[in-house]
Amino acid sequence: MNAANPQSTMMTGAPDWVRHERLKAWVQKIAALTQPDRIEWCDGSSEEYDRLCEGLVQAGTLRRLNPAKRPNSYLAWSDPDDVARVEDRTFICSEQREDAGPTNNWAPPAQMRETLDGLFEGCMRGRTLYVILFSMGPLGSPIAHIGVELTDSPYVVANMRIMTRMGRKVYDVLGADGDFVPCVHSVGKPLQPGEADVPWPCNETKYIVHYPETREIWSFGSGYGGNALLGKKCFALRIASNMGREEGWLAEHMLILGVTSPQGKKMHVAAAFPSACGKTNFAMMIPPASLPGWKVTTIGDDIAWIKPGLDGRLRAINPEAGYFGVAPGTNERTNYNCMASLRGNVLFTNVALTDDGDVWWEGMGPAPAHCIDWQGKDWTPDCGRKAAHPNARFTVAAEQNPAIDPEWDNPEGVAIDAFIVGGRRADTVPLVTEARNWVEGVYMAATLGSQTTAAAVGAQGVVRRDPFAMLPFCGYNMSDYFAHWLALGERLQAAGATLPRFFAVNWFQTDDDGHFIWPGFGENMRVLKWMLERIEGAAGGSESLLGTTPRYEDIAWDGLDFSRDAFARITAIDEEAWRKELALHAELFDRLARGLPPSLRDHRADLAERLG
Ligand code: GTP
Ligand code: SPV
Ligand code: MN
Repeated sequence: MNAANPQSTMMTGAPDWVRHERLKAWVQKIAALTQPDRIEWCDGSSEEYDRLCEGLVQAGTLRRLNPAKRPNSYLAWSDPDDVARVEDRTFICSEQREDAGPTNNWAPPAQMRETLDGLFEGCMRGRTLYVILFSMGPLGSPIAHIGVELTDSPYVVANMRIMTRMGRKVYDVLGADGDFVPCVHSVGKPLQPGEADVPWPCNETKYIVHYPETREIWSFGSGYGGNALLGKKCFALRIASNMGREEGWLAEHMLILGVTSPQGKKMHVAAAFPSACGKTNFAMMIPPASLPGWKVTTIGDDIAWIKPGLDGRLRAINPEAGYFGVAPGTNERTNYNCMASLRGNVLFTNVALTDDGDVWWEGMGPAPAHCIDWQGKDWTPDCGRKAAHPNARFTVAAEQNPAIDPEWDNPEGVAIDAFIVGGRRADTVPLVTEARNWVEGVYMAATLGSQTTAAAVGAQGVVRRDPFAMLPFCGYNMSDYFAHWLALGERLQAAGATLPRFFAVNWFQTDDDGHFIWPGFGENMRVLKWMLERIEGAAGGSESLLGTTPRYEDIAWDGLDFSRDAFARITAIDEEAWRKELALHAELFDRLARGLPPSLRDHRADLAERLG
């Protein structure tokens, strides 16, 4: 115990600004189990952040980047076996197996508790237990919820300070008796007396566990991203989806953006794309100069909490305060606002270190003649390895985004005009289709397919069903989740509210050489513009098997040379491919048969019949 630091107190109580006895008792209990050397109650101050980062530099976890190039920024390289979410080690431990559903790993809660008790016993020996109080959502907002993460990773503390509203200001909101979601995290590598630490401690054995009924999270063995920053996927999606189901709202893997027309009319869009499929890019998009007057502003880039407002319109908040975004592929052309956000005050993980102390990744710009890759090895352009891990990420405060929406922090959220869903599909799925009604929209989202990416450990590039981009994140039975979406729509419609429209997109079709056909990025504004004009009743389209699709003349082509032929190719419906696709939908529905809303099966049967 460090007597010189008044906040470092073991078993002797918390600092005087912690007035919550239940919280203190719980911290004591977890400390008794995990047996850390010290407990540190984090206040969320910049002094604390600087001190932790300095300690991480001393420990070899972080490298300070060249302050002339990248002020106040650091680079971490993880263990090569701890680079992404571990979906096969992620569990929803509801009392009943069917409440987790066929798409989640499940174990009986009592059995899992026994397993985890064994793993967590003494797992923080030689380390510090940090107490992180955080708010998901604006402080004190009626939509926000508070969590407490206990972790033995100072790297997690530093990330959580960027990704959430964290520290002393949240204690004021929590008060003496407020509710919080308890989250326990350990890298799972206790230190024997005198044992030297490694730069990235972790454990081969990993468990990411959720108890939905008691709203608890336990994470063991990983220090990376969604495995370890428990406010994000574990709380804001898996636990929050359970809260939303009970309370009549939605927790979604969606970006939220504002878009203003040249006439000054503003709308809001929430879009579900699977991991590493373009949410951050779309949320920060800069419309092409050839479409003057259009402006896109960011409310969120990964997660949306959506609740019906008093007027019956769905209102969305971003529960996060920062971006944990994919670095590779990001450059001044594909995402200028993102690059501008990254000029300083950034934590980078698993990108390459240049010889002048800056960062580099594939797709950032010209490759340096030499750098040190994410595994600490010498790298040259011809060495045959990637300099950055494909799931390398940056952690940066939302406030650094030049395109941040003035309403991004509004506790009331913004009213959603449209939902977009889209996966990464080399073929079959057309550029854009508008659903004809809510059920068709839910069907499109429920049957979403996408190629797997480096965001999760496992095979890459394999098409799988990823309903609502929530396959890894829905904390309960997927069929019940579809039913929840359908019921919400029905309830709002019955109350006379205007429902958001649904659109399905695919930016990722490739030609015979494997090149993307659609230019994407800022040019996606042309598709977004068509959607907004559809909502206004001002744009045409034609009926297809799947819904309404734009004709060539319905899209603004000013300043872009994109041929009729290419457009025909990426908007066509290949009937043979769709027969196969509908068979995959049927396969998904068979898997989800228990509790599947009949209207979804009926809709599939309709499509199959129309296809003949
Ligand atoms: P998570 O943070 O993992 O949930 O992902 P995300 O959806 O925010 O992913 P992100 O926006 O960071 O997308 C990452 C990858 O998608 C990068 O490789 C981008 O280059 C690519 N990408 C994004 N938008 C487009 C697009 O319009 N067209 C094409 N072809 N690629 C895109
Ligand atoms: C995702 O995989 O969808 C992410 C990154 O947003 S992580 O926080 O690691 O889950
Ligand atoms: Mn995500």
